[in-house]
Amino acid sequence: MKRLVVAVTGASGSLYAARLLDWFRSLREKQPLEVGVVFSENAPTVWEWELQQPMPRDFPCYAAKDYFAPFASGSSRYEAMVIIPCSMGTVGRIAGGISDDLITRAADVMLKERRRLILVPRETPLHAGHLENLLALTRLGAIVLPAMPSFYGRPSDILGLVDTVVVRVLDLLGLEVPSARWGSESPVSSV
Ligand SMILES: Cc1cc2nc3c(=O)[nH]c(=O)nc-3n(C[C@H](O)[C@H](O)[C@H](O)COP(=O)(O)O)c2cc1C
Repeated sequence: MKRLVVAVTGASGSLYAARLLDWFRSLREKQPLEVGVVFSENAPTVWEWELQQPMPRDFPCYAAKDYFAPFASGSSRYEAMVIIPCSMGTVGRIAGGISDDLITRAADVMLKERRRLILVPRETPLHAGHLENLLALTRLGAIVLPAMPSFYGRPSDILGLVDTVVVRVLDLLGLEVPSARWGSESPVSSV
């Protein structure tokens, strides 16, 4: 059983998280996958504004301040965490060791346990403080995977564009999505 944490913050780009959850719904039919989800306090506001759809209810969802969530402890067996999209506020708090909500606490746990932590930051332009925080987190072992879609696969719609980021996250989580590989006949399959 692969156990993963998906954290969603109040940065723009809720669609990246929604799309990742779509992929998990499809993948968990083929392999044992447990996905714990946590939204920051501000994430639902942005999610509802950008997507105009309700929050997902088909994954175990933990409250923003629920420090009793299993992945708030290093003794739990969650092997990786992705924060998508990741605000600069959350980046700064993790870099500063300020574990003041479940997302920042769980990220701190991932780092201290030397497990995989993937950050998908969304902000532009970036000031030196943002860049220093991202560098500090990279040095601590996190993977910074900016929400920078690519165009060389000529995605035909917005979901195809979003998937150019999301399938890289899946790849780094060790989940195989062969149709998304460069050179495959259909660049990204629909889920
Ligand atoms: C519509 C909307 C879009 C936002 N986009 C971003 C963004 O792209 N990046 C960012 O760092 N903050 C963005 N913010 C601000 C964050 O939501 C805010 O700083 C929040 O306190 C971040 O806290 P969190 O990381 O705990 O969610 C946005 C806010 C709103 C309402």
